[in-house]
Amino acid sequence: MYGVESCVHPDYRGRGVGSLLMEARFDVLRRLNLRGLIAGSIPMDYHNVAASMAVEDYVREVVEGKRFDTNLSKQLHKGFQVHNLIPEYIHDMRSLNWAVAIVWDNPAYEPGKLAEAPLFEVPRLYRTQLRSGLPSPTGAAGS
Ligand SMILES: CC(C)(COP(=O)(O)OP(=O)(O)OC[C@H]1O[C@@H](n2cnc3c(N)ncnc32)[C@H](O)[C@@H]1OP(=O)(O)O)[C@@H](O)C(=O)NCCC(=O)NCCS
Repeated sequence: MYGVESCVHPDYRGRGVGSLLMEARFDVLRRLNLRGLIAGSIPMDYHNVAASMAVEDYVREVVEGKRFDTNLSKQLHKGFQVHNLIPEYIHDMRSLNWAVAIVWDNPAYEPGKLAEAPLFEVPRLYRTQLRSGLPSPTGAAGS
């Protein structure tokens, strides 16, 4: 499966929403018995060091946990692995147009097994409480 654009509003990042979106995608893969998920991740903090560091070294340090990237580090934490770099993936000055192809292999994948449910039955309702203890969203009443 190819993952196209998941995004959490900046005011709500770091509160567990992105984690739920990723887990919902993994759930679809398990239910449809798909082999894996590939997506383009924007290394969005690369611009901070781009003048002195090649993107290959930046991504390597993020993978090794020596450096935190607002986007890629969270995806790696959820089990994605870096596959390769993609130049000119998207017009985005934060990553200098770079993306990282990230892959999640479905550990439950069984070759030849039929999907558990047809696609139209896949959507589920996720209910959750946002994690607390973080700054209130910009402009929220009382903040
Ligand atoms: C990537 C993105 C979706 C993450 O959303 P988010 O709501 O901030 O993510 P969460 O707060 O749920 O964190 C995701 C996971 O990273 C973990 N995490 C948070 N900070 C971390 C850190 N410093 N180091 C490692 N892991 C960290 C969280 O604990 C969570 O995992 P868990 O639920 O298993 O504990 C969000 O940053 C975003 O919208 N980015 C811009 C759009 C984009 O580029 N999307 C990807 C391309 S399609």
